[in-house]
Amino acid sequence: MKRDLMPFWQALLRDPRRIGAIAPAGRALCSAMVREVLGRPPGLVIELGAGTGAITRGLLEAREQMSGLIAFEKAPELAACLQRKFPGLTIHPGCASAVGQLQLPGENTLTLVSSLPFRSLPSGDRHRLSDAIAKLSAATPHFRLIQYSYFGKLPFPSPAKHLAWRRKHTVIRNLPPATLWVLEKT
Ligand SMILES: C[S@@+](CC[C@H](N)C(=O)[O-])C[C@H]1O[C@@H](n2cnc3c(N)ncnc32)[C@H](O)[C@@H]1O
Repeated sequence: MKRDLMPFWQALLRDPRRIGAIAPAGRALCSAMVREVLGRPPGLVIELGAGTGAITRGLLEAREQMSGLIAFEKAPELAACLQRKFPGLTIHPGCASAVGQLQLPGENTLTLVSSLPFRSLPSGDRHRLSDAIAKLSAATPHFRLIQYSYFGKLPFPSPAKHLAWRRKHTVIRNLPPATLWVLEKT
């Protein structure tokens, strides 16, 4: 994990608003996110802002419970690092808003797992991501987005009338403590 810190800090120094964290997700937070994903049959799992791959690793360990696993990561050094670490995994090196353009024939259950720091992202990114989430959720019968935030804050306003947030528990053993949230159909 220490080797991952160099590309993380490089990306943080270059673009702090898009990294939005002082450290990768800790072990307790990763386990909590994966448990939340597996709390219901997850279908296709798409990770948004996979960063150093701390959560990706846990998701890969549960891969047989999913119909597929895909990751998006915008920072080039982190995307390259993910590709080296997980050579069998499909990683899209670019903006996660491209998730709205994926063709997902026959996929009726979709779980998005997001570490995106929505609150600090530039507004153009935020709008593109919100639109993509609204579009995907409308097209998929069983949809969830699982996200963590710091200091208990709502991650971002619901991007559509048919979606609402549910606040889950807070993982104290993370730096800083992180609260899990689930965005799902009302
Ligand atoms: C809080 S950090 C990732 C933490 C990650 N869970 C980890 O443990 O390393 C947020 C990540 O989102 C990525 N990111 C920010 N905006 C993005 C976008 N529009 N599309 C894809 N990734 C993005 C950043 O490059 C960064 O790696």
